[in-house]
Amino acid sequence: MNVAGRDRLDRMTEWSALGKHRDELGEVHLRELFERDPDRAGRYVLRVGDLHIDYSKQLVTDETLALLRRLATATGVAALRDAMFRGERINVTEDRAVLHTALRAPADAVVEVDGENVVPAVHAVLDRMADFAERVRSGEWKGHTGRRIRTVVNIGIGGSDLGPAMAYEVLRPYTARDLAFRFVSNVDGADLHEAVRDLDPAETLFVVASKTFTTIETITNATSARRWLLDGLGGDSAAVARHFVAVSTNAGKVAEFGIDTANMFEFWDWVGGRYSYDSAIGLSLMVAIGPDRFREMLDGFRLVDEHFRTAPFEENAPLLLGLLGVWYGAFFDAQSHAVLPYSHYLSRFTAYLQQLDMESNGKYVDRQGRPVAWQTGPVVWGTPGTNGQHAYYQLLHQGTKVIPADLIGFARPVAELSDDLAAQHDLLMANLFAQGQALAFGKTADEVRAEGVAEELVPHRTFPGNRPTTTILARELTPSVLGQLVALYEHKVFVQGAVWDIDSFDQWGVELGKVLAKRVEPALTEGGEVTGLDASTASLVATYRELRGR
Ligand code: F6P
Repeated sequence: MNVAGRDRLDRMTEWSALGKHRDELGEVHLRELFERDPDRAGRYVLRVGDLHIDYSKQLVTDETLALLRRLATATGVAALRDAMFRGERINVTEDRAVLHTALRAPADAVVEVDGENVVPAVHAVLDRMADFAERVRSGEWKGHTGRRIRTVVNIGIGGSDLGPAMAYEVLRPYTARDLAFRFVSNVDGADLHEAVRDLDPAETLFVVASKTFTTIETITNATSARRWLLDGLGGDSAAVARHFVAVSTNAGKVAEFGIDTANMFEFWDWVGGRYSYDSAIGLSLMVAIGPDRFREMLDGFRLVDEHFRTAPFEENAPLLLGLLGVWYGAFFDAQSHAVLPYSHYLSRFTAYLQQLDMESNGKYVDRQGRPVAWQTGPVVWGTPGTNGQHAYYQLLHQGTKVIPADLIGFARPVAELSDDLAAQHDLLMANLFAQGQALAFGKTADEVRAEGVAEELVPHRTFPGNRPTTTILARELTPSVLGQLVALYEHKVFVQGAVWDIDSFDQWGVELGKVLAKRVEPALTEGGEVTGLDASTASLVATYRELRGR
């Protein structure tokens, strides 16, 4: 059996064995699993780099884990992983290699695509980025009027926005605080308006980030930004070269837009958009945190890459997390997965993971194009910890849905906090631990009764528990730890795609909407033709035009 033509998942004996095992487990409760196995808390823990990953509150036994690993073997996860690291074209529908791991390979590594070692080019771009970042940070890079840059505005969308925007928030304590950073993505003009309204064009640098350099939102915003700049600086188009740099795989389109390709930072078609923020797409981040910190982040990625590539299945954290998701999707009808960071700095982390996971694994056909008969990627959602507790955790605790969750926290607050604010950290983390505890063990009706609660209120105040979580802890949130966390999730998503036999590296599902938007747009303008639309959309367009006064 090879990767391209393997058996269907639902016909594998390893799959049916899991189904049978699930039936045997029945309504087993985490309380019971902990009673049966007093060592569980110590045994169901993995240590990867700086990450302490506790999966003891997962609804699994040793047998479940063994069966899941057997499924991973049968579905060829290791073979596909090795093919990815070797640079084979595992993105079958786009006929591309998938080599984000080469972006963090050491300078002396050899990773070949079509017989060419790509590592020297990766490091050459990193060096150019570092040189540029240092010049902006030091003030040596001057704007058109000779003033230094004070604000960097990244214009991009999807993978060309979410990664740098997320990582900038995560690593704020490491950023040059005398520079400001803003991220514009939405084609809604309000986004750019709010980003630049209080800026001085003479001190503003735009980083236009787009793999293809054809993405309509980004090109539209970049065109408007250029107009804003030139209006503010007296119209001399020579100013563009001092205030615009590009990050792209498409030099032709960058030049066509009017950005000097000497100010372009390159990456390659074997880097998927949602896997790209450790490439030149991270340029604005590198300006923010500096080249050394950026390299520390790459080291963190690399550490988990190596772990994923070499650790035995029993100790392989991305493999484990991926398989747990497969388990809940298939056998518990779990439709979503919550990622709940107990860190203000991780406020955009789940939004970033939404693209990583849902654009990768939101697929309905297998790698051969046959409809799948099993659940694929979950809805990924979540916001920082305690805020969520006062909003949607009610549903996590007492709702009717199974929602596996990851709780992420850090032992130390960031060094920048005053003693008073740092003292709040224990309260933050107490909440993380309490939530994991409540979700897993709940509160029985008898416990509620013992508190003297009136009988009619007992069901309302009972917590069923048995809601699975993984807790991920690290000492502190450093650039390296961020790299480790992102690589952990990247490879988790990989594992799931491999088991489900889907192409995790294409995104055809985003195309139709783009095509239709182009078709609908002319109908919205004054006197535009409202033909060729379905009845419902035509009616909406007519209402829009009436309300807009057209
Ligand atoms: O439309 C989806 C998508 O292609 C994403 O995969 C990508 O990250 C985003 O658009 C932006 O694309 P680009 O970097 O080419 O502008």
